[in-house]
Formats: sequence, C-alpha cells, structure tokens
Amino acid sequence: MNYSRVRFLCSAHTLRQIPPPDLPEIAFAGRSNVGKSSLINTLLGRKKLVKTSGRPGKTRGLNFFLLEGWLTFVDLPGYGFARVPKREQQAWQQLITAYLLERQTLCLVVVVIDLRHALKEMDRQLVEWLRHHDIPFCPVYTKADKLSKSKQISHAASLDAGLGVQAEDRLIFSAQTGQGREKLMERLAFARDSW
Ligand code: GTP
Ligand code: MG
Repeated sequence: MNYSRVRFLCSAHTLRQIPPPDLPEIAFAGRSNVGKSSLINTLLGRKKLVKTSGRPGKTRGLNFFLLEGWLTFVDLPGYGFARVPKREQQAWQQLITAYLLERQTLCLVVVVIDLRHALKEMDRQLVEWLRHHDIPFCPVYTKADKLSKSKQISHAASLDAGLGVQAEDRLIFSAQTGQGREKLMERLAFARDSW
C-alpha cells in the first residue's frame, strides 16, 4: 500500500465546507445505492469506514477520506433517488457540479455503475458531461458477484457500447468478493502518478 493510514476527514454540504486542495483526489460518483461506499470500503480493506445501506440515499454531502501521504477519496452522494426531495437533489447536483469543475486536485472520477442493469440515461449523461469537460474518468461496473461470468461479459459489453468506452478502459468489480480490487487500485495509482 502507498499510504500509511486512512481516516475520515470531513463531510461537505456546501462549497465552503470543502477542504482546501492538498493531495491528488479521486471522486466516486454514481446512482444512489449502486455501491459507491461499499466499493471504497472494499478497496481499502475496511468493512465499516464508510457507511453503507440497503436503502438508497445513504451518503449525504461529499465525504472526504484521507489516505495519508497518497490520495484523498471523495464519496459523492448518489443521484437519481426519487425519494430525496427535488430541491435537495438540485442543491446536491449544483454542489457536485461545482466541485467536479473547480477542484484542481481532482485526478480521476470513478463512475460506478450496476453491472446487472441496462445503462441508465443519467449514467450516460454523467460520462458525456465528464468527457465534454475533459475530466478523466473510469467506469467501474459493480455487483459482478450477482451475475455468472458469461453474463458479466455480455452485460459489460453492452454498457461499454452505451457509454462509448473500450473494454480496457473500464473495470468489473464486486465489493462482496473483491473481484477487480487489485486492478482498480492499479488504475487509481496510475491516475495519481500521471497527474
Ligand atoms: P448511496 O450512498 O445511497 O448513494 O449508496 P451507495 O452507492 O454508497 O451504495 P452502498 O455502498 O451503500 O450499497 C448499497 C447496497 O448495495 C448495500 O446493501 C450493499 O451491501 C450492496 N452492495 C454494494 N456493492 C455490492 C456488491 O458488489 N455486491 C453485492 N452483492 N452487493 C453490493
Ligand atoms: Mg453511499
């Protein structure tokens, strides 16, 4: 591992609460309940560092985690959860948009997508938007443990086509089995070192 210790830094609900830029930063974005927080826990080998839930809308605000001497991880609130009031969703969206556009230390956005389902319009739009703004991103298809190997391959191919990405530019992952963990760590290290 390239860091000495992991700790929760802060939770930001407004732009002013975002900590000053310091280490290179990786943000984790995706639909509500897709498994962003679980993915971070699995990556770091920590079961409960980040709170997860079977109920969508668990992560509120931008949560910053410090991997001391190496990187900052930012767990973003999920999008597309109907039961979060419209006004709150819009406020998050504005905060996330401003963060992604303005953060000088941001070196990669991990776009977490459920491998089981057809591509959702909001996921496609996020990827388009990141591309448009030249923000580096890596799609990660998660919950792979819920599919057979052959289904993993066919579902991933259709997500690739929908997003317009090559197979070598994304990863298949499972927070439950740890599938894809090493490869994702390598991808993050690469993003950090080329930043
Ligand atoms: P929000 O914070 O609400 O946006 O959700 P999130 O994207 O952070 O999802 P979270 O990590 O809280 O996980 C949501 C649910 O999916 C939980 O019940 C997790 O246990 C489950 N889950 C997450 N990743 C996986 C996975 O790889 N495999 C399986 N089988 N379940 C998973
Ligand atoms: Mg979460």
